[in-house]
Amino acid sequence: MPRYSDEIIEEIRSANDIVDVIGSAVKLKRSGANYFGLCPFHSEKTGSFCVSPLRQTYHCFGCDAGGNVISFIMEYENYSFPEALKYLADRAGIRLPEIEETEEEKKAASFRNRVMECLKTAAVFYYKRLYSPEGKTGLDYLKKRGLSDETIRSFGLGYSGKGFDQAVKYLRSKGFADDVINAAGLCNISEKHGMTDRFFNRVMFPIMDINNKVIAFGGRVMGDAEPKYLNSPETIVFDKSHNMYGLNVARRSRKNYRIVCEGYMDVISMHQAGFTEAVASLGTAFTPGHANLLRRYTKDIRLSYDSDNAGMKAAMRAIPICRSAGLTARVIHLSPHKDPDEFIKALGADELQKRVDEAENSFFFELSYIESSYDMSDPEGRTAFQQEAVKKLAVIDDELTRDNYISSVAAKYSIREDALRRAVTVAAESGQAADSTAGIPESGSRKALSKENGSRDAEKYLLTWIADEKEAYEAVKPYIGIDDFSEGITREIASALYEGYEKGGISLADILTRFAMEDKSKEASSVINRKLYAVDTSQDREKALTDLVIRVKKAALDRKKNMDDGLDPLTKAKEEKKILTELRQIRIKI
Ligand code: UTP
Ligand code: MN
Repeated sequence: MPRYSDEIIEEIRSANDIVDVIGSAVKLKRSGANYFGLCPFHSEKTGSFCVSPLRQTYHCFGCDAGGNVISFIMEYENYSFPEALKYLADRAGIRLPEIEETEEEKKAASFRNRVMECLKTAAVFYYKRLYSPEGKTGLDYLKKRGLSDETIRSFGLGYSGKGFDQAVKYLRSKGFADDVINAAGLCNISEKHGMTDRFFNRVMFPIMDINNKVIAFGGRVMGDAEPKYLNSPETIVFDKSHNMYGLNVARRSRKNYRIVCEGYMDVISMHQAGFTEAVASLGTAFTPGHANLLRRYTKDIRLSYDSDNAGMKAAMRAIPICRSAGLTARVIHLSPHKDPDEFIKALGADELQKRVDEAENSFFFELSYIESSYDMSDPEGRTAFQQEAVKKLAVIDDELTRDNYISSVAAKYSIREDALRRAVTVAAESGQAADSTAGIPESGSRKALSKENGSRDAEKYLLTWIADEKEAYEAVKPYIGIDDFSEGITREIASALYEGYEKGGISLADILTRFAMEDKSKEASSVINRKLYAVDTSQDREKALTDLVIRVKKAALDRKKNMDDGLDPLTKAKEEKKILTELRQIRIKI
């Protein structure tokens, strides 16, 4: 990723007023010092989405989305940090400095551009061909499969022509050199025939990257010949495991999940039926590269694989990959139909939406799949299956989550719950676990129970206050240091604020840039958006501030007390008491 200086990033950020930028996407209404509107990141009826012109930040009190103008564009457009920066630079008419390139890099970049132009030209060629007399077979085929002209246009589908070198000839006539055509993956080269078209007599599916640029093709035969789909080879612009079919559209979906299907046609019929959140991997299995790509857009994956055995197997392989990437996977059941395309044709979009909503928890899907290979009417078979289930339960790290799964599994498979619980405990302790990827991501339940929540809130109120008022910082500084905040995002924010003030002043919006880069805008924003209300008189303010300082300090001292640092616990306890007693006697002035 290109590295830009803090100065240029700050210049771009401050040149884009947050109210202007967000205001062109969300209807905002002024209320006091801030603007409010309906949050674009979750569906709501009352406006809990707040934009602050003073801070140049936004925060949603409903879903915790928040950050500065850069993170807004990242989230709203599903852009990466550099993409958002480029967008905002263009918007403000600022030229992003060229990153220094060597001669060789320049050459490579310009060759790459030629290859991309060549692919685009080929796509236009195939598309036009589809609507020419020669393309009638192709067009008839796509129409027969139920695709509308609008769908054909939006996916840029085409027909490759019957001759053996039509595309090559056309591309040459448009000025593309042979090495460019070859690097684009559009030809075959042999001694006997020279350069010939890779694709002929196929309907063409251009594959686009997330910026809508053609990077490859898939071509389908219209009959039963093999291979059914011929794809572009991997090239300098096409990396199968880091691109997904349909993602250029699906990335903009406002749904909070993405549907992963097996093939081109699945994606196209899903989109045509309104499921624009559908994507597919490209003539290859689902890889960790795909999981990482999708994580930019969602944490919730719904697998919509063929309902045959091959499809179920593919789902079994995709689930642990999702888990390892921190994504939750669910499985959409399409039976009695084979794939989404057939399902929609037979039962329609509403029925499919129901199936999407009812998608099965991946843990239970795995268990059912495992179950199908055992004879459950035989006690031995049942035991063997239960042992598999125990292994899978034993690797769930979070205790509450594990407990919940134990209860559900016991109920579903009529196993005695206490016996199952004991077996799982034994397995977990003996470390006899299945592979580590079989665990379930931690649920929120543990967090809800944590007794630390109270003091965390105090830290957030305090940091919000400090962020907005320099006087609060000056007043708090003698009592609370950076280390007094709990580790992680809270301390990172504290440290940025303290540092900022020591340097002579902070810009909260610029502090947030760093967190946007690390995809942590949401967490960061939730730390600095806890305002105490109804503390108006200076007496109330001083009391409230003192109170917060004491709570934060106490939590910090408690943490230290429990830390195994070799210091005498009694001494530590005494020290804590002394500090707190002192604090309780003063009133912090602000
Ligand atoms: P499918 O055979 O399920 O194709 O392969 P499909 O998408 O449902 O297409 P239709 O409905 O039969 O036309 C799923 C995906 O696997 C890859 C393609 O990406 C395809 O969309 N595939 C399949 C190939 O790359 N080559 C093949 O020969 C077959
Ligand atoms: Mn299929």
